[in-house]
Amino acid sequence: MTLLSSLHPNSNVGIIGASGGIGRAFVELLVGDAGIRQVHAFCRTPLEWAESKVVSHSLDLANEESIEAAASAAASEAPLDLVIVATGILHRGEGIRPEKSMRELDSRSIAEVLAVNSIGPSLVAKHFLPKLRRDHKAAFAVLSARVGSIGDNRLGGWTAYRMSKAALNMLVKTMAIEQARTAPDSVVVALHPGTVSTELSRPFTGRVPESQLFRPRMSATKLLGVLDRVSPDQTGGFFAYDGSRIDY
Ligand SMILES: NC(=O)c1ccc[n+]([C@@H]2O[C@H](COP(=O)([O-])OP(=O)(O)OC[C@H]3O[C@@H](n4cnc5c(N)ncnc54)[C@H](OP(=O)(O)O)[C@@H]3O)[C@@H](O)[C@H]2O)c1
Repeated sequence: MTLLSSLHPNSNVGIIGASGGIGRAFVELLVGDAGIRQVHAFCRTPLEWAESKVVSHSLDLANEESIEAAASAAASEAPLDLVIVATGILHRGEGIRPEKSMRELDSRSIAEVLAVNSIGPSLVAKHFLPKLRRDHKAAFAVLSARVGSIGDNRLGGWTAYRMSKAALNMLVKTMAIEQARTAPDSVVVALHPGTVSTELSRPFTGRVPESQLFRPRMSATKLLGVLDRVSPDQTGGFFAYDGSRIDY
């Protein structure tokens, strides 16, 4: 049984941010997927995985050399069929928290959020996109967020996070255009995972009804379904967990 029947039947995949709530769920699902030959799990502090299908690597978004080395290692035996960037930051300790008002804007925390959510993924694209398979559909996806949609912004707030995801969305659109020139079967997309119970969302989900809060495995399953269905003519798009398009 495979969730990714549109990819090469013996796929080599990479999950960046494998220590995160959604990233870990991707690794666990892909390990059990008959269509996947190898899962490369990337995070700052490599994790131990019991399954021999998983190869653990270190990757720090703040260190381009680590990104380049990780991409080369993952594609050393076969090209990559799927790469998912599941990293991200919304809050950290006392220093970074989503702004409720313009009075709270702070240059250092805006810079850190942009570094992790926009600049890091751009370097991942730089080093991983050339490693994707070219003779079959292959996908590169980043976890964005609906709040990064400019057209959908009705509430304001969370300025740095919104800015960082809007920049990430522009990265996706731009990379999709360039990638399609040399890899017409490629799919480069931004995904919204829904509201998912993870460390990132925990301080903000108190009032979210249980029915609207996904477990990471549920979100990851739905997103893999979207990646399986999305076709190369939809590259550059921004999709929610149910496959619906989100306005940039
Ligand atoms: N949860 C939600 O409701 C929700 C909603 C919309 C969008 N998203 C998006 O989904 C993605 C995954 O979120 P999540 O909920 O799974 O968050 P999470 O559990 O907090 O995981 C975040 C991941 O990002 C990694 N990371 C942070 N800074 C890094 C760096 N400098 N280098 C490498 N990795 C770094 C973390 O690694 P460490 O373990 O090393 O810190 C961790 O693996 C994010 O992009 C988030 O914006 C989530």
